[in-house]
Amino acid sequence: MGINYFESLNGDIRVSFKLDTKNTSYCIGIVYEEGYIGHLYYGSKIKDGDLSGLIRINEYPFGKVGFERERCSFHDFFAHEYPTHGIGDYREDCFGVETKGGNSEVLLSYDHYEIIKGKPGITGMPSSFGSDDEVTTLIIHCTDRFLNLKVDLYYSVFYDNDVITRSVKVINSSDEHLFIKKIYSTCLDMDNKDFDAITLHGSWARERHMESVPVTHNKLIVESVRGESSHQDNPFLALITPNTTEDTGEVYAMNFVYSGNFKAGVQLDQFDHIRMFMGISPEDFKWKLEPGDRFESPEVVMTYSDSGLGRMTHAFHDFYREHLIRSPYLHKKRPILINNWEATYFDFDTDKLISIAKEASKLGIEMLVMDDGWFGKRNDDSNSLGDWVVNEEKIKGGLKYLVDEVNKLGMKFGIWFEPEMISPDSDLMREHPDWAIHIKGREGIRSRNQFVLDYSRKDVRDEIYKKVSAILKSANIEYVKWDMNRQLTDLGSSALEPERMGELLHRYVLGVYELQERLTKEFPDLLLENCSGGGGRFDPGMFYYSPQIWCSDDTDAVERLSIQEGTALVYPLSTMGAHVSDCPNHAVGRTTPFETRGHVALAGTFGYELDVTRIPKEDVDMIPDQVKMYHRYNDLVREGDYYRIASYGKNHEFDCYGVVSKDKKEALYTFVQVLGRVNHKTRRIYLRGLDPEKTYRIDEDKCYTGDILMKVGYLIPDIKGDFRSILIHLEEKDG
Ligand code: GLA
Repeated sequence: MGINYFESLNGDIRVSFKLDTKNTSYCIGIVYEEGYIGHLYYGSKIKDGDLSGLIRINEYPFGKVGFERERCSFHDFFAHEYPTHGIGDYREDCFGVETKGGNSEVLLSYDHYEIIKGKPGITGMPSSFGSDDEVTTLIIHCTDRFLNLKVDLYYSVFYDNDVITRSVKVINSSDEHLFIKKIYSTCLDMDNKDFDAITLHGSWARERHMESVPVTHNKLIVESVRGESSHQDNPFLALITPNTTEDTGEVYAMNFVYSGNFKAGVQLDQFDHIRMFMGISPEDFKWKLEPGDRFESPEVVMTYSDSGLGRMTHAFHDFYREHLIRSPYLHKKRPILINNWEATYFDFDTDKLISIAKEASKLGIEMLVMDDGWFGKRNDDSNSLGDWVVNEEKIKGGLKYLVDEVNKLGMKFGIWFEPEMISPDSDLMREHPDWAIHIKGREGIRSRNQFVLDYSRKDVRDEIYKKVSAILKSANIEYVKWDMNRQLTDLGSSALEPERMGELLHRYVLGVYELQERLTKEFPDLLLENCSGGGGRFDPGMFYYSPQIWCSDDTDAVERLSIQEGTALVYPLSTMGAHVSDCPNHAVGRTTPFETRGHVALAGTFGYELDVTRIPKEDVDMIPDQVKMYHRYNDLVREGDYYRIASYGKNHEFDCYGVVSKDKKEALYTFVQVLGRVNHKTRRIYLRGLDPEKTYRIDEDKCYTGDILMKVGYLIPDIKGDFRSILIHLEEKDG
């Protein structure tokens, strides 16, 4: 299901493939005797039929007629499925090498194809999965006969999800080594439709803000060269046609299942054709391939929508929930946690933590998370990373005692680690000065007083794993927050030969994946939350290991509106770590109502990040109701369809979004009035996602049909003041 193969139709096309999902088609044509792999179509679903006359092949400017072997201008014009370096396609290419002789060119020809049920995994890396009924894979085997290099293009078609994933495998079948200098995972060559590009840009404490810019003849690049996917640029890129809304317009979107350096971009070429691409960033990348070796690229998830951004969002959310996140917690309510970071920072001990747990347990909070500062001699951020030994001066009585006491209160216990890091002032550094990523002889560049461990080394990974797992086995620990608080510099490894130094960054990411795989295999019931200085590594690669990621160190309810909106453009609400914190907010200094903070955190995993023994009594008194609210609505938030209604980022006054259950019997909308206006006593909100035929009950007493609520709208009651919010809950009447 999903993939058709057609042989020698007519003209210059030798073979073509048609990949169908429920609402989309993707067509590939193999042309000329050389077997170039061309792109024919991606868009709304089309019928099976002969497309051979439609491939972009004969009209290239410098004339086919009389120049039968004219290939240079052909390559610069042709819609390539996987453009390679050095052949006369001067647009951004996807693949280049360095041979023993110092050459960089690759010219691929089609060799044969396979269509298989299901989807093969990618060695050592996260990748989406599905049963044989859910996904079919096309492998186009290509070769560069001159180099004896095999390049396999993988297309996995998830029919029901309107998703096609793409990745590449390269095998060196020659008897000489070569280096891969650049390897992207996907490329989309299309005609331009006046596209704008949407990206998710940000910074620390301001992650994933949506930006939209017109595509021009200047190359538009979204890239991380920081060693992680980053706060600054998320590995997501979408093209939209003019005036695209939530329900109308065309969207082509790509998202990278990878947590390291990436590069994505779009280029409008001299003929006004579009090329969109995504893969590992070639910056600081060079991979040696010995004879017989193979290299597998990470995968890109692609989706197309002809009904606006809403459908794109739903396609990504459903796809990640159904085909990428493996955690047993995926479909479960996560325990409501209280984290002591903003409550105490480094200044805590057993008594302090137990006092927080005591109070929290009375209010219905279900788990205490002990954050940074419990190990080595760490009382600030200047030391001890790597020394994963409990500091019994703070954790008096030991970790097991603390965990047991917390458990006795009926609460679970969770703990913070930063396993990829090493402090210069640590026993680990004194013992193994060469374990940090560093350049021999050069003084390393510190960030937050720390260096990054060389995870390309197995001995380093094994030692850290041993220490982390020993702590996890020493007490009843049910949750881990895996943090990563600095980006990479001083790119050198004492274990890699000079000609393999360009492998460090990718090997580092593979090392992180290996450890998270080991952790989740050995502790299958552990709830793992990824984190990187807030949301610096919020990418689909991490979903394979953890069902949730801390969204941002900015917990201010207003800032979170834009951060969570941008995050939820692509990633399910169930993955967004969101907590209620104390005010004035530690990041921005703003004071917002406790109620609003609760409503905003409800859109994510929900929890607290404050000292419950010290906040105002009226805030404490609200917690039991917030706990009830979470238990009442989390199934809906976690599993439902998310709808954007109004964006504070755009209108600078209010925000509104909703979640509707899959059966459309229940919905919850959140309205946040950031700026109260006298002349806007009431606002009319056009609800979205409801069944127009169903009648819904709102607030116990009022009933309206779905079509009325979506077309005529709903009047938000007068909620005077700034930063005020309300929840609007709907249930099908008699449903
Ligand atoms: C990062 C995290 C925070 C906290 C600190 C601890 O900034 O995002 O939540 O864990 O590290 O150092």
